[in-house]
Amino acid sequence: MKIYGTGIDIVEVSRIKKLLGNNKFRSRVFTESEIGYCESKKKKYEHYAVRFAAKESVWKALGKGGVALKSIEIKNDATGQPRVTMKRGLLDKGHKVIITLSHTGNYAVAHAMVVD
Ligand SMILES: CC(C)(COP(=O)(O)OP(=O)(O)OC[C@H]1O[C@@H](n2cnc3c(N)ncnc32)[C@H](O)[C@@H]1OP(=O)(O)O)[C@@H](O)C(=O)NCCC(=O)NCCS
Repeated sequence: MKIYGTGIDIVEVSRIKKLLGNNKFRSRVFTESEIGYCESKKKKYEHYAVRFAAKESVWKALGKGGVALKSIEIKNDATGQPRVTMKRGLLDKGHKVIITLSHTGNYAVAHAMVVD
């Protein structure tokens, strides 16, 4: 396995909570599936915040501009492990993004790597 890019991001949960006061922000950044997941959780702002950090970490790992955050989707598999999917064409053929997330009441952090 070769690493082609890496990215990390940390966000304050309170900042994302404030931004989510604006419904346009929610629908501009998060997919329906992400919104469904976060809204089903008791500490929903932590889950939104970590998904925001996740998208930014993927954006950094991709190393290219002009990528809409909503075109990067974070979806947990049956074990709870987060998986990344994105709009066709953003990743080179044979590449994938692996990610890890963590959050507390105050901060959410994500680290992503583009690998083959
Ligand atoms: C999964 C686990 C590592 C999460 O750690 P935590 O300190 O509680 O919480 P963190 O904030 O660090 O991490 C939460 C994130 O871990 C990720 N995660 C959850 N399950 C995961 C898994 N199996 N593998 C990798 N990542 C996982 C998710 O992205 C989650 O955030 P999200 O729900 O917003 O997507 C923790 O619950 C654990 O140790 N599980 C081991 C198995 C276990 O004991 N399960 C409970 C059985 S009763």
